[in-house]
Amino acid sequence: MNSRKALMLSVVIFTVFALFLASCGSGEQTPASGGGQQPGVAKKAALQKGDAAKGKDLYVQSCSACHGPDATGIKGLGKDMTTSEFVRTRTDEQLLEYTLKGRTPDDPLNTTGVAMPPKGGNPALTDQQIMDIIAHIRTLQK
Ligand code: HEC
Repeated sequence: MNSRKALMLSVVIFTVFALFLASCGSGEQTPASGGGQQPGVAKKAALQKGDAAKGKDLYVQSCSACHGPDATGIKGLGKDMTTSEFVRTRTDEQLLEYTLKGRTPDDPLNTTGVAMPPKGGNPALTDQQIMDIIAHIRTLQK
């Protein structure tokens, strides 16, 4: 009787365990396929809204050489961002993406024939610092 009970019990335990394993196996599919997006999403979520006060100095150091101290642009170097429709209509995240990548003169979307270097040519800038710069640029928009 006792050994029979023990056998039944082990069958139940085995079944539960097998079901558990099966559900783990199929459950793995979803996180694995979504896994590709997970780091990007987490990274974006970790970004704070830009701080314009912090962005001002960073802008002057990394962007003003081409875009001018007041972001009105320097002919042949960088565009006016105070009247830029592009800047006005893009989200902070889209402008971050643009700034990270820059724009080569042979890019069909380039509007001036001049290169916008990735991160304005300052690889030390973090994503958060660029968000701060973008917040500062927003304050200069007309
Ligand atoms: C070496 C010069 C240079 C530096 C430094 C520079 N840019 Fe630019 N930037 C350009 C040029 C040139 C363009 C125009 C590209 C084109 O023709 O589409 C541009 C375009 C842009 C645009 C798009 C404007 C529009 O209306 O299309 C943004 C936004 C921008 N820059 C942000 C920045 C930020 C932020 C920094 C500093 C981190 C920076 N740039 C530093 C040269 C520069």
